Amino acid sequence: MKKFIIHGHKPLCGTVWIAGAKNAALPILAATLLTNQPVTLRNIPHLTDISVMYEILTELGCTIHQTTDGVTVSAKTINRQTIPDFLAGRLRGSILMMGPLLARTGHVRISMPGGCAIGARPIDLHIKGLIALGAQCKNSHGFLDLTAKKLVGSKIYLDFPSVGATENILCASVLAQGVTVIQNAATEPEIIDLANFLNCLGAKIAGAGTDTIMINGVSCLRGTNYTIMSDRIEAGTMLTAAAATHGEVTVLGIVPAHINPLTAKLREMNHTLQIEEDSATISAAKMARAVDIKTLPFPGFPTDMQAQVTSLLAVSEGTCIITETIFENRFMHIGELVRMGANIKVTGRSAVIEGKKHLVGTRVRATDLRAGAALVIAGLAAIGDTEISDVYHIERGYDRLDEKLRKLGAEIYPC
Ligand code: EPZ
Repeated sequence: MKKFIIHGHKPLCGTVWIAGAKNAALPILAATLLTNQPVTLRNIPHLTDISVMYEILTELGCTIHQTTDGVTVSAKTINRQTIPDFLAGRLRGSILMMGPLLARTGHVRISMPGGCAIGARPIDLHIKGLIALGAQCKNSHGFLDLTAKKLVGSKIYLDFPSVGATENILCASVLAQGVTVIQNAATEPEIIDLANFLNCLGAKIAGAGTDTIMINGVSCLRGTNYTIMSDRIEAGTMLTAAAATHGEVTVLGIVPAHINPLTAKLREMNHTLQIEEDSATISAAKMARAVDIKTLPFPGFPTDMQAQVTSLLAVSEGTCIITETIFENRFMHIGELVRMGANIKVTGRSAVIEGKKHLVGTRVRATDLRAGAALVIAGLAAIGDTEISDVYHIERGYDRLDEKLRKLGAEIYPC
């Protein structure tokens, strides 16, 4: 199994171009099922999650034509409505195909997604929304079978502003008869990107990015060319790595407002941030100040940056508390950080971090995507060598991370 070897304690310096957002590309790729016209998408990141999504679309009957900077998907004919479980098991994001497939064909069958390293991750809100639009749902032998003769617009309140549930309901409602209103909708930037894409197809969506989204159903959709937004979590990961290694890095091709929750916290920690129209430059503080962090739905501090910032706080001055309110088991990286000398104690959904002058490299294991990124940051900051195993987790969500870090002066090598 592939590993990363990192010779740590070197400052990252330079400029890095940020890839397209995984968490925008996945729902938008799923949404290509809604139209029988070809769709060309640009700024698609090169990730294993994206490759699995291509495999699933192909299994359903779509044609996929990859180019250097993107992909053209044609869902002219869909000859299957079952998401193969050997593929659904490899990509949790496959549940995002429920809404589009149901809207386009009136039927979708998918194996119930299990939990994952970070939590149980139920999909009750997805199902509640699709049933509200007129779907019937059967759960037999671990498979979900959703059918709908016709989807009819409805008012749907989400008990929690779930990103995935908002995306599935959004996709199902664009072809429903009448008006759908999603209340307490997720407001993440990826929701806006999906809604913008759907409107380019001819959908009629208003309010994306707020907690109330209104959709006027249409009878059919056209094709389009669309460029995926940049990955705010990759940008945040690079800035955090620069802070942890006392470096100076510029991330290019970003939307600064998307990383506001992070840059605000980095400034509180005494790091210097210079924000331009589509870039951000961090000049790390000599000794960063520890700050408390609580993850919340957007525009709160993103849960997808919690692990990475935990590594930064582990080498910052003072004691602080990180509280993870979104997922119930998203501290898997902490045990590995403690093996590198971090002083962190977990109690329930909070972790108390007592900053140390430095960590020490050792053998660690990536347990999930963002935990893996946290270990890369810790290895870059640590004294000595760090070996990270199970880096396949990292490659699910980062486009050539080690290559980009080497260009910033990191000594990180696959082996
Ligand atoms: C999306 O996951 C992202 N994944 C996650 O990124 C991200 O952490 C998450 O949103 C929160 O921002 C993709 O976009 C592919 P949720 P999603 O539904 O849609 C509970 C990464 O690292 N919930 O907003 O699954 C759930 O248990 C990944 O890139 C229900 O209870 O997130 C969790 O506690 C990890 N019932 C909370 O809501 C439901 O029906 C947030 O889940 C749905 C969710």
